[in-house]
Amino acid sequence: MNIPVITIDGASGTGKGTVTHIVAKKLGWHLLDSGVLYRVLALAAQQNQISLTDEAVLAPLAEALDVRFVETELGQSLSVLLEKQDVTDIIRTEAMGNAASKVAAFSRVRTALLNRQRAFRISPGLVADGRDMGTVIFADAIVKIFLTASPEERALRRYNQLNAKGIHVNLSALVEDLRERDKRDQERLVAPLKPAMDAIMIDTDPLTIEQVVARIMIEVEKKGITAA
Ligand code: DC
Repeated sequence: MNIPVITIDGASGTGKGTVTHIVAKKLGWHLLDSGVLYRVLALAAQQNQISLTDEAVLAPLAEALDVRFVETELGQSLSVLLEKQDVTDIIRTEAMGNAASKVAAFSRVRTALLNRQRAFRISPGLVADGRDMGTVIFADAIVKIFLTASPEERALRRYNQLNAKGIHVNLSALVEDLRERDKRDQERLVAPLKPAMDAIMIDTDPLTIEQVVARIMIEVEKKGITAA
């Protein structure tokens, strides 16, 4: 039987990551945070003094990337290792998100990371979050969700998240960064950020995380899938 996949796509700051963790935990399914791969690639490029615009060198680097996801004691919470170095926190910066968005625009880079992402499809099921999970990587997913939120709301959420971690940033610079990243992710030629034809759109602006999860679980249950 085909291993079921739920895809949760959307721009950064829509709550994808948090929602994906909760849904995966509720179902007892595996989890793929595909943005991590692009973030780790951007970091590896930086560490090897490779230009973020050099597709010919970035593609083989992506192919050979020694990246591992390690489950922590918290169960669903994952640490990320690049060649045994714990990079969980370094890859979460805004700068690395931007760098990731740059390397992600290259088709050869995306192809190099394709099978690696599909390998996460392990029984009993997978919840995958990203930009092209429903359109490209898992086009046959049983439930496809696309989350949206206004740039202001997303920037504010990110601002609060970073603040809570003791990282202080400028809110208007954050809005600017988000707009720039959205534009690049939406306008790139390969696998741009867009909803799949059969995706369920959820505007998260007026909703809490719990409400978004509840909305997704309704769609999941409609397909006969029940929480673990
Ligand atoms: O979800 P995130 O913020 O960690 O993603 C960082 C960047 O990686 C994002 O701006 C674009 C790229 N990305 C992508 O192109 N495709 C994905 N499936 C996930 C992320």
